[in-house]
Amino acid sequence: MADPTVMDKITALCKRRGFIFQSSEIYGGLNGAWDYGPLGAQLKKNIKDHWWRAMTQLRDDIVGMDGAILMNRAVWRASGHEATFSDPLVDCKTCKARFRADQIPTSACPQKPSKCPGQGGACDLTEPRSFNLMFKTHAGAVESDENLVYLRPETAQAIFVQFKNVLDTSRQKLPFGIAQIGKAFRNEINPRNFTFRSREFEQMELEFFVKPGTGFEWTDHWLEQRLLWYESIGIPRAKIHILDVPESDRAFYSKKTYDLEYEFPFGVQELEGIAYRTDYDLTRHQEASGKPLEYFDEEAKEKYIPHVVEPSAGVDRTVLAVLCEAFCEEEVTDEKGNKETRTVLRFAPCVAPVKAGIFPLLKNKPELVAKAREVESLLRPHMATFYDESGAIGRRYRRQDEAGTPFGITIDFETLEGAKEGPLAGQKDTVTLRHRDSMKQERLPIGSLLGTLLPLLR
Ligand code: GAP
Repeated sequence: MADPTVMDKITALCKRRGFIFQSSEIYGGLNGAWDYGPLGAQLKKNIKDHWWRAMTQLRDDIVGMDGAILMNRAVWRASGHEATFSDPLVDCKTCKARFRADQIPTSACPQKPSKCPGQGGACDLTEPRSFNLMFKTHAGAVESDENLVYLRPETAQAIFVQFKNVLDTSRQKLPFGIAQIGKAFRNEINPRNFTFRSREFEQMELEFFVKPGTGFEWTDHWLEQRLLWYESIGIPRAKIHILDVPESDRAFYSKKTYDLEYEFPFGVQELEGIAYRTDYDLTRHQEASGKPLEYFDEEAKEKYIPHVVEPSAGVDRTVLAVLCEAFCEEEVTDEKGNKETRTVLRFAPCVAPVKAGIFPLLKNKPELVAKAREVESLLRPHMATFYDESGAIGRRYRRQDEAGTPFGITIDFETLEGAKEGPLAGQKDTVTLRHRDSMKQERLPIGSLLGTLLPLLR
């Protein structure tokens, strides 16, 4: 069930803890643009690194590239974006608001009392018309039609137009893929649901080139691989709905598309599309550029245009899904027996922005502080840490719970004087390791911290 209050809480937490801020906030913001703060930028980077590693490091049949945002306008003519990358737009002549025609039932008229556009007495909606979503700018000093360039609305086209260069320089053979992560821009009519539909966002796209006749099998292969990947970053299969997109809703060049939809608090919505794009893109670019983009199959001794399977994921939507999945409020009892609500982000350790909080029990005991700094220097080269010596230890744990830090390490008097009980009784240089989700604590020698933590962070 969609729960809007959860989304309000997540949005507030993101601002309070420095995950995500409204762009240009001090000037009233800019609709559809967001800035990632310290924790958000690290979370986003960890997710992108995890994707990049899964694609280009753990497999030997995918190479990476990093294309420019600005491309020759001919690319967008050939791909069909200039003519057809548009949404149906409806204007209200009374209040001047604009709506996506297909989203009218879930949009709100800005006039009070707020209703659906068209339902208020004064509403005067136009017929839908096509609105191209590509942002335009000019390359060079002259603002003429010849200098017009677009901010790319997807990263994929750079891969298609560099297919031959990558093939020739990487010595790959079909089937193989080219992966890319980068910014994309769409002048969305109605940016909404926090970062879900933005005007500036990032994509993680793979174009996987295959032999004609094998596209359907590879589409199913990628469906499974992508579900496994989401599981590895903490989004369970059960929360992802697989939509086998019916032909009537697919792009005309796609023979099969799966949408992976996540149960966001505002409803089940698309996280990623996995599309079998046939040989459409390479054929179009070959025709329009006049440059051969065929592949010579040495085994079959024949030339053909490869077919493409494209898993295309949104970075920002993945960050949002990870935040929604991790967000949890639970009632706990503190050391004095008082009940309180604990807010915790249960991030998978591999994507958590900070891996370990380091806490000297008291900040006015120099020996505790020195030992805590020693532990910090031991861990810092291997993981993101956060040193915190201010406030009661319980409050410090809560702060890290809210930031999603999976481990807390406390340096206490037993560290200096020797453990009081348990298998390490009498041993100095031990610390407590607190686990965020269970809140369980165990005592460990400082010397085994790295060996214990590193395997848990992969
Ligand atoms: N190359 C194929 C392509 O771009 P798409 O379904 O239009 O396909 C792929 O976009 C993914 O990019 C989406 O599944 C979504 O995660 C992300 N995305 C698209 N538009 C977005 C927007 N306005 N804001 C945030 N993410 C967006």
